[in-house]
Amino acid sequence: MLTRLLAVMVLTLAPIRAAAQAPQSLVVDVDAARDTISRHIYGHFAEHLGRDIYDGFWTRAGTGEWHLRQDVIDALRRIQIPNLRWPGGCFADYYHWKDGIGPSDQRPTIVNTVWGGVTEDNSFGTHEFMDLVQRLGTEPFVVGNVGSGTVQEMAEWWEYINHPGGSPMSDLRARNGHPESWGVEFWGVGNESWGCGGGMTPEYYSDQFKRYSTFLRSYGDTRAFFIATGPNSGNVEWTEGVMREAGNRIDGLDMHYYTRVRGFGGQGGPGGNPNGPEISRSATEFGEREWFVGMQNAQRIDDLIEQHEAIMDRYDPEKDVWLIVGEWGMWHDVEPGTNPGFLYQQNTIRDAVVAGQHLNVFNNHADRVKMANIAQTINVLQAMILTRGEEMILTPTYHVFEMYTVHHDALMLPIEIDAGTYEFEGQSVEAVNASASRDAEGRIHISLVNMDPNQARTIETEIERASVSQVSGRVLTADAINAHNTFEQPNTVEPEPFDGASLSDGLLTVELPAKSVVVLELQ
Ligand code: AHR
Repeated sequence: MLTRLLAVMVLTLAPIRAAAQAPQSLVVDVDAARDTISRHIYGHFAEHLGRDIYDGFWTRAGTGEWHLRQDVIDALRRIQIPNLRWPGGCFADYYHWKDGIGPSDQRPTIVNTVWGGVTEDNSFGTHEFMDLVQRLGTEPFVVGNVGSGTVQEMAEWWEYINHPGGSPMSDLRARNGHPESWGVEFWGVGNESWGCGGGMTPEYYSDQFKRYSTFLRSYGDTRAFFIATGPNSGNVEWTEGVMREAGNRIDGLDMHYYTRVRGFGGQGGPGGNPNGPEISRSATEFGEREWFVGMQNAQRIDDLIEQHEAIMDRYDPEKDVWLIVGEWGMWHDVEPGTNPGFLYQQNTIRDAVVAGQHLNVFNNHADRVKMANIAQTINVLQAMILTRGEEMILTPTYHVFEMYTVHHDALMLPIEIDAGTYEFEGQSVEAVNASASRDAEGRIHISLVNMDPNQARTIETEIERASVSQVSGRVLTADAINAHNTFEQPNTVEPEPFDGASLSDGLLTVELPAKSVVVLELQ
C-alpha cells in the first residue's frame, strides 16, 4: 500500500520481518496534516506533596538557607517545560495563599494533612513560585482553592498576581517587593472537585465554577484562561454535566488518569480484578505480568480521551475548549521505608515506555488535547528528577521528555501503525504506537514506542518521490524490564544514538528494539 505524502515523501510499511505477527502497516499522511501539537502537552506539575517542592525545587541543602535549586532548574530548562501547575493537586483546595506571602520568618506554619501530615513553614509561596517559573522560562498554571476557600480569597489572589497596580492587593504585592504584576493566565478553578476538592456533583460544581470565575476580572491584557475540574478517568457523567451546565464559560477541562498496576485479567484502573493472580505494585520489583498490566492500563488513555472528546464535541463542535490531561503517569507503591503520604517512587524503563506511549496519544489528539501535566516533577509519582541532599538524578521518564521536545508546537502528521500485538498469557495489547510531526524547518520526526519487552520489530517503509536523504535517531532502552537510574549508577538508562534506522534505495528500515522509545529525524 502506498500513500502520497505531499511534496515530501511517501511512507508505507512493508510487512515487518519479526516473528509471526499479524499484517503490519505504517502510514504517515502529510496530506491530512492540520493541527499543531501544543507544547503545553509537555507540561509539568509541582504540588506541596512529599519532597516535590520542599527538598525538590526548594531546599536548604548546601547553604542551610532556603533557595531554589539551580541544578534542577538547569535540568528542566533542557526539556523546555512549557508550563508548571501549582500548588496542587488536592493541596490546592487546602491552601490559603496569604499564608505564603510576606517576610518568611513571619509566615504561619501549616500541617499538610493531605499529604504525609508534615509541618510546612510556608517559605515557598506565591513570590517563590513566580521566581521559579521565571527562572525555568515556563508559564505558570495556578490552581485556586474552591473546596475550603471563598470567592473573595480567590479573587484577591488573582488581583494580587495580576492587577497592574493601584489596588489593595497589588499594593500589598508591591510592599512585598514586587511592584510589577505577573500576568498569569492559566487558572484552575479547584482541583478534583468530585473528590478531594469537595465531593461535589457536576451540577453543583458547575454553579461554583461560574460563581468563582465571575469575580476573576481581566486586568489590561491579562484574561484568565479558566480551567475547570474535569473527569476522573472514565467518569463521563462529570464531563456531560459540566459541559452542559458551564461549557460555554470554560476554556479547559482538566481530566485526570493514572496508570496503576493492579489486578491481572481485569480491565485496569483502581481495584483491577480481585480474582486475578497476585500482582506486585512495586516500582522496581516486578515481572512480566506487571509489565503487561502497565501497558494494558496505559493504553486506556486513548479510549478515555475519545470518550470525553465525543461528549465535548456535542457541546463544543468548534473544539474551542481544551481537553487537558492535568494529571497523568504511573502510580506505584512508595519506596520501602518512605512516608506513604509522600508518594516517592522509583522510575524504570517501564515508566519511560508508558510516558512515550501517552505522549504519542496526546500528540495524535492534537485537535482537542492541548495541555497535559505529568504527575509530578520531582520526587513524587512518575518524576523527572529524584533528589538526595545535594545530589540529583534524572529518571528514564525525563529522557523521554527530552527526546520528544522535537514535537513541541510542530505540525502533527497523522500516522497509522499496526505492528501486531504483544501477547501475554492469553491477553494482548498493540505492540507499537507512534506519532509524527513536521517542524518549522521542515524536518519530520517520528516517535515510536515498542511496548513488547521481548520482541524487537523490524519496520520497512518505502519512500517515494522523497526529498528525504538522511535519517538519524535516538533510542532509550535497557536490558532489564526494571532497569532504572540510582544515585550510585545514574546513567543506567539514558538515550543513545540510534543506529537501527537506515535509508537505502528509497527504503527506510527501522530495527525497533524491545521495550524501547525511538525518535527518528528525517530530512
Ligand atoms: O498527584 C497526586 C494527587 O493525585 C493529586 O493531589 C490529586 O489531584 C490526585 O488525586
